[in-house]
Amino acid sequence: MDRLLVTGGRRLSGSVRLSGAKNSALKLMAASLLAEGTTVIDNVPRIVDCLTMGEVLEHLGARTEWNGSTLTIDTSGARGVETPYELVRKMRASIVVLGPLLARYRTARVAMPGGCNIGSRKIDLHVKGFERMGVEFSSKHGYLEATAPDLHGAFVTLDFPSVGATENLLMAAVGATGRTVIENAAREPEIQDLASMLIEMGAKIDGAGRTAIEVEGVNDFEPVRHRTIPDRIEASTFAMAACVTAGDIVLEDARADHLELVLDKLDDAGAVIEATERSIRISMDDRPLAVDLVTLPYPGFPTDLQPQMMALLSVVRGTSIITENVFESRFMFVDELNRMGADIRTEGHHAVIRGVERLSAAPVRSLDIRAGAAMIIAALAADGTTEVFDLYHVDRGYEDFDGRLAALGADVRREREPSLVGRA
Ligand code: UD1
Repeated sequence: MDRLLVTGGRRLSGSVRLSGAKNSALKLMAASLLAEGTTVIDNVPRIVDCLTMGEVLEHLGARTEWNGSTLTIDTSGARGVETPYELVRKMRASIVVLGPLLARYRTARVAMPGGCNIGSRKIDLHVKGFERMGVEFSSKHGYLEATAPDLHGAFVTLDFPSVGATENLLMAAVGATGRTVIENAAREPEIQDLASMLIEMGAKIDGAGRTAIEVEGVNDFEPVRHRTIPDRIEASTFAMAACVTAGDIVLEDARADHLELVLDKLDDAGAVIEATERSIRISMDDRPLAVDLVTLPYPGFPTDLQPQMMALLSVVRGTSIITENVFESRFMFVDELNRMGADIRTEGHHAVIRGVERLSAAPVRSLDIRAGAAMIIAALAADGTTEVFDLYHVDRGYEDFDGRLAALGADVRREREPSLVGRA
């Protein structure tokens, strides 16, 4: 396992080209299962999660081939309908193959992610929506078995605009008989990207990006070539890293229209932002100011940026309040930030962050993809050399994050974690 040694105090400057969006690419890869033949997806980030989704497709009988960031998926031999536990365990998002498998074969068998059962909160919205479309579920030996000899359109109102449930239902609906309406659908740009690819493949979809998505099922899908949208979470993570170091960077291939609220908040914090059609320049030349924010489904402030923003706000002038509304227990990393000298108190889903002048280096863990990025951001602003352990989490979601930070002038060094084996 790798750890990252980060010596704080260097200003970031220069430009960085963004990768394709992880959360889009994973679903585009799953969508390739709908068509027989060769689908080509450009701008796919070569990160652990996308490699895992590649393994899921291979397990189903597809063949995948990478050429730089272009991924070719040949589904001609794909006949499988089962996704095994060892892959779902690595990445919960693997369950998004349910929708396309049901559309194509009317049956699917997917291992349940850890802590999930049919009634559990984590997949209840997927299951309820599918049931409306005629899918019957049973649970055996840790697997969710879904069958739908008569997969039909339905009117589905989601309790919450879940990203995964919207995508899974959308991919089933495009191949179901008749008309589906998904109400209270998630509106994330990644859903619009998925819908664009599905439409190119032959699907009939209206309203992706709005709260009601209407779908008219069709029988035939053509394989296509599609380019993944740039990663708005990665863009914002680099922007926050620049702000915490009083830096000045250009995000190449960034789409400001996907980042409106995030850029507003960084503007409130004192950043200078210049957006063109295909790039964003962001700089900060003073100590940032406190801002309050609330995470919400898109177009609200993304929960996937809450930890990185918390790291930035831990060194601003003033006191900020963050309210986390999307995921319970997404404040676990706060203890790690406090170990670096941050002054953050949490109460339920609220956090009060009193900005401190400087953070100080400490050994810290990266608890998940975004919390890991947050620790690295904090380390860029800390006195001394911070050791960020469990870097594999960061590698799941960011392509060569440390290499690209180094190219912007950060003092970062990746090392193998010293092994305890053989020690007395
Ligand atoms: C996706 C993103 C993730 C992001 C999240 C919210 C991918 C691969 N991951 O995750 O990075 O943080 O959107 O923007 O795209 N919920 C239920 N029942 C369900 C489904 C969800 O209660 O059946 C709850 C979840 O527990 C959570 C909330 O709804 O509290 C949001 O989850 P959801 O939007 O589904 O997130 P994911 O699609 O898993």
